[in-house]
Amino acid sequence: MLRHIRLTAWVMVVLAPVALGVVLFLTRQQDLGSGPLPSSGFVVAQPFRLTTHTGQAFTDRDFKAKPHLVFFGFTNCPDVCPTTLYELSQEMAALGPAANLGVLFVAVDVERDTREQVALYLQSFDPRVIGLTGSRQEIDTAVEAFRAFYKKVPDPNGSGDYTVAHTALVYLFEPGGRFAGTLDPHEAPDAKRRKLQRLAGPA
Ligand code: NI
Repeated sequence: MLRHIRLTAWVMVVLAPVALGVVLFLTRQQDLGSGPLPSSGFVVAQPFRLTTHTGQAFTDRDFKAKPHLVFFGFTNCPDVCPTTLYELSQEMAALGPAANLGVLFVAVDVERDTREQVALYLQSFDPRVIGLTGSRQEIDTAVEAFRAFYKKVPDPNGSGDYTVAHTALVYLFEPGGRFAGTLDPHEAPDAKRRKLQRLAGPA
């Protein structure tokens, strides 16, 4: 009996941190609304072709021509997207007009986010933010190329409405498409700014 209790206690001691780890991991995944992140050393290799909100073609070659911030979202997003785009607009203003840094907003809500809708939406933000739209297949190809994530989530109350869960982190990429980390929404403003300055290089 005593041996049994000891064994149970031992198993709990071993398993409790594992269980906690799993819970924390799941919570974090949910918070980010994301799948696996690109790891260090990751380079965007898969070709993609999207359309900017002003109607220009934008491909992986354009993407690789200079450093970029890449963000995935949708114009009906109630909080994460507008907050992030507002903050990125402030960062771009702080970096100044000569900043060698592209900002991409990939619109993953293919049904609602037409090119015109994205153009209208981006009027509220720094004019250097480029909205990218495309067919479902074009968007899926680009999302896959960036190892990002989105998922349409129907309203549980059955209204027929839906929201879109998506990668909430801003990805940083060096010229050539090498992954250079993320901007975390919980990161201190100073740390964010230093990262962006480093990525943009000397003005
Ligand atoms: Ni959003």
